[in-house]
Amino acid sequence: MSKALDGVRILDFTHVQSGPTCTQLLAWFGADVIKVERAGAGDITREQLRDIPDVDSLYFTMLNHNKRSVTIDTKNPEGKQVLEALIQKCDVLVENFAPGALDRMGFTWERIQELNPRMIVASVKGFGPGPYEDCKVYENVAQCAGGAASTTGFDDGPPVVSGAQIGDSGTGLHLALGIVTALYQRTQTGRGQKVLAAMQDGVLNLCRVKLRDQQRLERTGTMKEYPQYPNGTFGEAVPRAGNASGGGQPGWILKCKGWETDPNAYIYFITQAPVWAKICNVIGKEEWATDPNYATPAARLPHLKDIFAEIERWTMTKTKFEAMQILNKYDIPCGPILSMKEIAEEPSLRKTGTIVEVDHPTRGKYLTVGNPIKLSDSPTEVKRSPLLGEHTDEVMTELGYSPEQISALRTAGAI
Ligand SMILES: CC(C)(COP(=O)(O)OP(=O)(O)OC[C@H]1O[C@@H](n2cnc3c(N)ncnc32)[C@H](O)[C@@H]1OP(=O)(O)O)[C@@H](O)C(=O)NCCC(=O)NCCS
Repeated sequence: MSKALDGVRILDFTHVQSGPTCTQLLAWFGADVIKVERAGAGDITREQLRDIPDVDSLYFTMLNHNKRSVTIDTKNPEGKQVLEALIQKCDVLVENFAPGALDRMGFTWERIQELNPRMIVASVKGFGPGPYEDCKVYENVAQCAGGAASTTGFDDGPPVVSGAQIGDSGTGLHLALGIVTALYQRTQTGRGQKVLAAMQDGVLNLCRVKLRDQQRLERTGTMKEYPQYPNGTFGEAVPRAGNASGGGQPGWILKCKGWETDPNAYIYFITQAPVWAKICNVIGKEEWATDPNYATPAARLPHLKDIFAEIERWTMTKTKFEAMQILNKYDIPCGPILSMKEIAEEPSLRKTGTIVEVDHPTRGKYLTVGNPIKLSDSPTEVKRSPLLGEHTDEVMTELGYSPEQISALRTAGAI
């Protein structure tokens, strides 16, 4: 079966996490992704957090499936010529170097346009234009600068970063959307364009509801669904909301049977208004369904702590899965806190290709997260990540270099 991005060639200059997430998605949708790496070293993540000596790390392998790897010294004059040939052949150049690195290599936007006016140049940077535009940025810096950390955690504790890589993988997703949009526009205009996804912007986009709350707070001085209401105090900025749901339906994380020894024996419980009477029945507080202090969402807001404490008395008598089963019967929204171990072993995620087992020539079998976006006409087949420079000869041959020329470039240290 054909793939959605068949025929699209990506010159992949990405490294670490944000850029590779983006190009991996494009590869899964069928693009030919040619990853350019530095000979001898490659993407720094190949050797970071290694669990097996001298073998590409899981960090690298899990972010670089379905790509080809070529090694080119982009600072060598002959290496630059190879890169020029690649720029002429590809549709998109994706990079997440530190600000200015591509220009310092000699590949300014103007130069790239000269070589290929149809080329889309897509970049992840830490910040957009402004006071921090020259800064190098990693995941947690973006979470802090994008508003996630100041709004995550508990009121009496410090800001907290999330396990979800919203700065890196989140921005990679934003960039991928920008690239396919620019490819679509190119079908009308025939021209390439620059695509920029700044990590601060990507995180802020995911924290949109918190900017909403900032303005609600400024207007009214309070937010009744936040745990600070009614007994705590609100300051000038959106506070950390613990495990409150953030939406119009109050929720919290509650202990389940076994919580004393299992750190993940918890359930997320939402007191959705339409099922309030059912919640009262399940937890044995039938009188709350009609009690004017509890019967309506507005009446419940000042009592949320007591309500969740009462519900927790019930959830603590069940495992998180037993509680799920009972609550789902009544359409009460809830979710078990799943550990990574439970997720890795979940058969339904294996069946859908969301968790995939991949074989690798030096590492052996490992688990990865497959393509989370499923297209009915463009199925994803997850293929292992390339070894460093595995496809240099293959790609050079496609560019028209003879075996003698390839060998001379290798001797010159250009590839
Ligand atoms: C992630 C980041 C902090 C890493 O910084 P770093 O390890 O110092 O790497 P840089 O991007 O600065 O690149 C280092 C150098 O390698 C050079 N280089 C990269 N590939 C090369 C190649 N194939 N041949 C020769 N030189 C190469 C670059 O030209 C650059 O040289 P310069 O500093 O002389 O211009 C930085 O790249 C960054 O801020 N990126 C944008 C934001 C981002 O994506 N962050 C999230 C990462 S998950």
